[in-house]
Amino acid sequence: MAHQLYRLDSRSTTILLEIEPGRSPVWRHFGPRVDDCELARNWQACALLSLAPGAMDRLSGPLLTPGFDGLAQKPTLAAHRGGADTVHAWGLESCTRAGTDSLELLLADARAGLRLEVRLHLDADSDVLSLDAMLHNVGDGPLEVQQFSAPSIPVPHGLDEVGYFNGEWAHEFQWQREKVGAAGWSRDNRRGRTSHQTPAALFALASQTGDHAGPAVGAQLAWSGNHRLDLQRQDDGRLVLLAGEWFAPGEVILAPGDSLRTPALHVVFSAAGMNAVTRSFHALCRQRVVRWPGGRQRPRPVHINTWEALYFRHELTELYELAEQAARIGVERFVLDDGWFKGRNNDRAALGDWWPDPDKFPQGLAPLIDRVQALGMEFGLWVEPEMVNPDSDLYRAHPDWALGVAGRELVLGRNQLVLDLSRPEVSAFVFEKLHALLADGGVRYLKWDMNRDLAQACGGDGRSRYHAQVLALYALLERLRTAHPDVEIESCASGGARADLGILRYTHRIWTSDNNDAMSRVAIQQGALRLFPPEVLGCHVGPAPAHATGRTQSLDFRCAVALFGHMGVEADVRRFDAASRDRLAWWLALYKRWRHVMHHGVIDQGQTPSGAIWWLASDAQTHLLCVIMPVPPDTVQASPVRLPTLATSGAWRVRLQARAGQLRQRAGQHNPWINALEADGVCLSGDELAHIGLPLPAMQPESALYFSLERP
Ligand code: GLA
Repeated sequence: MAHQLYRLDSRSTTILLEIEPGRSPVWRHFGPRVDDCELARNWQACALLSLAPGAMDRLSGPLLTPGFDGLAQKPTLAAHRGGADTVHAWGLESCTRAGTDSLELLLADARAGLRLEVRLHLDADSDVLSLDAMLHNVGDGPLEVQQFSAPSIPVPHGLDEVGYFNGEWAHEFQWQREKVGAAGWSRDNRRGRTSHQTPAALFALASQTGDHAGPAVGAQLAWSGNHRLDLQRQDDGRLVLLAGEWFAPGEVILAPGDSLRTPALHVVFSAAGMNAVTRSFHALCRQRVVRWPGGRQRPRPVHINTWEALYFRHELTELYELAEQAARIGVERFVLDDGWFKGRNNDRAALGDWWPDPDKFPQGLAPLIDRVQALGMEFGLWVEPEMVNPDSDLYRAHPDWALGVAGRELVLGRNQLVLDLSRPEVSAFVFEKLHALLADGGVRYLKWDMNRDLAQACGGDGRSRYHAQVLALYALLERLRTAHPDVEIESCASGGARADLGILRYTHRIWTSDNNDAMSRVAIQQGALRLFPPEVLGCHVGPAPAHATGRTQSLDFRCAVALFGHMGVEADVRRFDAASRDRLAWWLALYKRWRHVMHHGVIDQGQTPSGAIWWLASDAQTHLLCVIMPVPPDTVQASPVRLPTLATSGAWRVRLQARAGQLRQRAGQHNPWINALEADGVCLSGDELAHIGLPLPAMQPESALYFSLERP
């Protein structure tokens, strides 16, 4: 077998790999679909790379799995055996098709005693290319792995900007965009959890790429721990993407016969802007990541979460009152947050002692659960199972169960330490405690929190446990899900510090942010929506002023922003006046009417030239459009909102469903357009909506409008 070209095609993407036995596979294309390709008949063209003066004598295109061989491309593997066997050059042993959409490659480096299995899957519908690799140590001695990334991906020429997310507690998913220079771009996450600062996702963009047009590559690493993202400049000017775990020194040592798998890397190419990448990510999440109980997503119930209503003050009569008021306004799931377990009166003690506090709940949680259920709501419970406070019965009994470096001062975060879940007895203990809480079926939902970074995360042998901890967490979650298949789990980590496609395989919701300030939330949700569909993004109506920022927005505006996700309430609704409670109930009812469109439909987003932000959820016959004006508009008159995906879609009746905040107009001004939209609606064609746009009224800051589009 000489050269062969292997291809995979999806709706709009093609990948081409040149395969030659004994050599490393070479990328020939990752990008728009190419149906007609003569490359296999023109191998000479591939050899046109010229040997530059001063260059090495061997050249190739970008490799799928570059080894460390001293040549230019950054390797996917850096490993050694006691300082030797550092040079790796993969030779292909076999390449097989698995179905129509997958390739499985077996590569070996006999000299170094290594084998490598590579899987590529290009999903025919969603255009998501998923890749991973598994390394086998078939040599004689232990192999220390310093770096092991998923197979590399060439970014098409001309995509020289990087889009990514920065963040902080209460300030997640802040979109950044910058030019990648000659030195490339790289980011490490060494916080032990996905982190507020460095979620495992990036976009490569051309300078002209926007939400609706231009080439874009998006990538997400399905991993909830340390990682490294890399865009490395090639000699031909292109960027190559590498993504994988970041390992601490000495963290991964493979004994002979041991294996190591990379997290899956999910990559999307779009010729039609960033929204098309987002559509693919959402489809991936819906079809292949989140596993709903019973295999089907139930309508996402309206939550009330007790945290900002009561904090640690769990008093039964207050909880009953809160539950009653919540049920009255249409809440469907009551989640008892932090403060319920033995001795937990502040954040300085008790993590690890997972049984109801006898002073607060003398008869256990059953009376509260019964009351909540009698009110027609499901009961959910907050836990933070990976953690232990030094001031806890658990720590007093097993101080050695916490991660840390013997002989060094223990590094606390929110007064707590991390349990070494990679020890079977520790995971077994945590499982038993959670199993006991779930045993009688009253608790149907867990808000699973994780409130600190891992630092100096070493086990008793002094070796780092970052990698092992994530795998042990996944195993624990899987065990729990198998034992309690109907229980849904939320991934919270001081808000959205563990939001990734790895954790979403085991959970059903992300607590997007501890910041419920609606103004802050607009940017947070914009960012999060680029990666995850709205049904997994917890969005709550908080109190005013907002606890995270001290700022106040109107109830309507808070509701409008929280509606476009998995809506809930994070406030003491007992303290709302009757009119506010009624108004909140009205918004919750609106959410219930439209959640099926948001939670199954295609999501687009954009911004008008006036500065309004919009989110559009579309199923075949209906659309829900949310237009938000967070700050004073940039123009005197409002620019229309153009909805490019509606081109050639026929006629629509556009109705104004909800208004939050004020229009920018003179007192008493007659506004026939708004009146018509609010009354019977206005008929417009998809072409008009796409190319001319829906005329909008001028909007005041902190205002929002919800429109429905239905067939006339
Ligand atoms: C974290 C979470 C919050 C809340 C508190 C409880 O900060 O993000 O939502 O559950 O812990 O301690």
